[in-house]
Formats: sequence, C-alpha cells, structure tokens
Amino acid sequence: MGNNGKVILAYSGGLDTSVCIRYLQTLHKLDVITVTVDCGQHDDFKEIERKAEAIGAIKHVYIDAREEFARDYIVPSIKANGLYQGKYPLATALARPLIAAKAVEVATREGATAIAHGCTGKGNDQIRFDVTMHALSPNLKIIAPIRDLNLSRDLEISFAKEQKIPISSEAKKYSIDINLWGRALEGGKIEEADFEPPEEAFEFINFQNNEAGYMEIEFDQGVPVAADGEHIPLIDLIQYANDKAGGHGVGIIDHIEDRVVGIKSREVYEAPAAVAIIEAHKDLEKMVLTKHELAFKQIVDNQWSWLAYSGLWEDPLRTDLDKFIDATQNRVSGKVRLKMEKGSLRVVGRESKYSLYKDNLATYATGSTFDQSLAKGFVELWGLQSVIANSVAAGLSRDKKNKKEVKNEIKS
Ligand code: ARG
Repeated sequence: MGNNGKVILAYSGGLDTSVCIRYLQTLHKLDVITVTVDCGQHDDFKEIERKAEAIGAIKHVYIDAREEFARDYIVPSIKANGLYQGKYPLATALARPLIAAKAVEVATREGATAIAHGCTGKGNDQIRFDVTMHALSPNLKIIAPIRDLNLSRDLEISFAKEQKIPISSEAKKYSIDINLWGRALEGGKIEEADFEPPEEAFEFINFQNNEAGYMEIEFDQGVPVAADGEHIPLIDLIQYANDKAGGHGVGIIDHIEDRVVGIKSREVYEAPAAVAIIEAHKDLEKMVLTKHELAFKQIVDNQWSWLAYSGLWEDPLRTDLDKFIDATQNRVSGKVRLKMEKGSLRVVGRESKYSLYKDNLATYATGSTFDQSLAKGFVELWGLQSVIANSVAAGLSRDKKNKKEVKNEIKS
C-alpha cells in the first residue's frame, strides 16, 4: 500500500469522501492524508478523525478556518449581495475554494503528489475544487474517485456496506452540505421538483413559532458589526442571526437552479442569517448609494455571484470586481431593522449618517424644499421621444389603412 506516494483528500466525514479513502488506497495505491476544514459545520471533528483513521487514512489534519471563511469569503459576498440566480446565498460555493486552498497547503507541506475530492461529475463542486486546486498548484494531480468511476449514490452505499464503512441515516436520505452561511439539501425525495420537503428536513427553521420578532443589524462599510445593539465578532453575529431569523421560520430557499454543467436541479437550502443579512444590506445600499451606483452595482453583483458560483473564485476578475464593490461600501454604514414572522421577512426601518434620503424633499406635507414648478419642464423633456414615437406610430397605421382601401377600390 502507498507505493505511489501520498494523496491529500478533502474529507468531510460523509459518505462520498469516506468511500474515497478506500478507493484511493486500493485502486491508486496511495497513502491517504485526510483534511477536514471547519467552515462552521458544527460536526464532531474528533469523531471524523476517528472515522478517517478507521477507514485507513495514515494521518488526519483538522483546520479551523471559520474566521477566514467569514472574513475573506462571506464578507465579500455580503458586500456583493451574493445571491446566485437572485436566490441562492452561495454557502457551498464560497466554502469550496477555501477548502481547496487549505488542501493545497497541506499537500505542499506533506510533499504529496496528488490531491483528491469526493465530488461527482454532475455538480458544481468539482469545478470549484478542480479550478482552485489547479490555479494554486498546477502540478498536483487531481483525483476524483466518484467522478472517475462514474459511481451512483446507490452504488456508493452498497460499496460502503460491503467495506464496512459506516453511513449515517441522514446520508441515506439526502446529500447535505453545511457551513456557517447555510445548509444545502440535495438528493432523495427532494429530487422530485413537485415534492414539498418535510419540516424534519430542516435544522435551523422553527415552524411552530407564531410570534413576530425584530432584529436590528448594524453595518460598518458594508460589514455587519452588531446585531440587536451588541457588537460581536462576525462568526457569532452570523450564528445569532441564524438562530433568530430561523427561529421565526425565515431562511428557506426552494428553487430550480442552473448548474454550470447545464443540468437544471431542484435545490433546497436553509440560510436564515444569509437571507436576513443580505436583505438588510441591500436596503441600506438603497439609502446611501445614488441610483447610478445602484444600477451599475447590480450588474457587478450579478457577475460576482456568477464567478463565485461557477468555480472561478481565483479568476482575477473576481478581485477586480471586489475593488469596485469595496469602493461603493464606504458609505454603507448604518442600521436596518427587520421584522420576522412565520417565515416572512421585511425591512421596517433603516438609518444612516450617509443617507441620501432627505425628508424635506420627499415629504408631501408643508415645509418641502422641493420646487414643484421645476417639474413641469422636466416632465415635458423626459417624455419627449415617447410622445413623438406614439404620434409617428398613429400616422403609420393611418397610412396602412389608406393603402388597404385603395387596393380594395382597384379590385372592385
Ligand atoms: N447547488 C449548490 C451549489 O452548487 C449546493 C451544492 C451542495 N453540495 C453538496 N455536496 N450537497 O453550491
């Protein structure tokens, strides 16, 4: 065993990556070093280490990357209102390049010749891992046993049983990916696009609470710094927002998503903190940015989300866009108050010292400083082309009608 050198396997402790340990050992004759990167998934990491070693890993490395994940991945995504196809807060998509980077670090340290992951050939994660690993270390060989062997989940389960690899009962139902920014559920019954996921499938969502609640998020230059008046570290703030918004049923996303490989998939997520924080952030931006900044930033945000989703985190365009986005965030400081009730979420108040909202301009009451007499001329110019186009179109249909009448006269 191991006569082909060492391989670093990004190991979650789940079914796919557990099966990979055995395949890498037996098929590739590699010594497997497993790496588990903690992005806030609340797993029993001691148990994961025991499991990896019991299956056959020669060494296990645990890396606590929660702070880095929050600071260097979640924060830029909040600033970019990162939502793929307007819905998915990118939790998995953001964690993958970080996990890949950590695995590459370990590979360099351990003198490994290959690096491996447990992704299938049907999803986005393979792209995020492969591209990041390749971009950071072009000479490492990438092995993806599940993809290479074209394994189905059922085949994996029977292989695991045969090899006495333990499988959790949850793994039999769904494929789950979880981190600080959200939880993704795939596979099993929810592959049926018309099937409503049962309440038990969710971890953060309280379906029983009928009471309304409020949460205030404070931002400093686009970064959430306080929740309900408490200045707390970002990881704690996200956790707090997850508990609070989830406690009011907020944060389920159920949509049809276009994967990079062309497949449309039904995706179910729970991401209470992400949904609440991005909603609040967007609202604050509307108060402090000009309409020109907002319109252009929306295009940039979309492009940013696409790069993150599609595995191009290491493309220089992403950091180029970050520079623009950062520049827009200078004034995105203030507080947003959210009201949450039985799964609904809405902004009910906001304030910022950089607000462009001026009530002396907006008010309908006396005391307005807005000079209405200026509006008349503006409106005339604003609609000029639309008015002309309509009269030209009216002339055109008159001409057509006349032509038809002339033709009919000639015929008769
Ligand atoms: N569709 C989502 C994405 O592409 C979720 C992927 C979840 N991954 C998983 N292994 N269950 O980011």
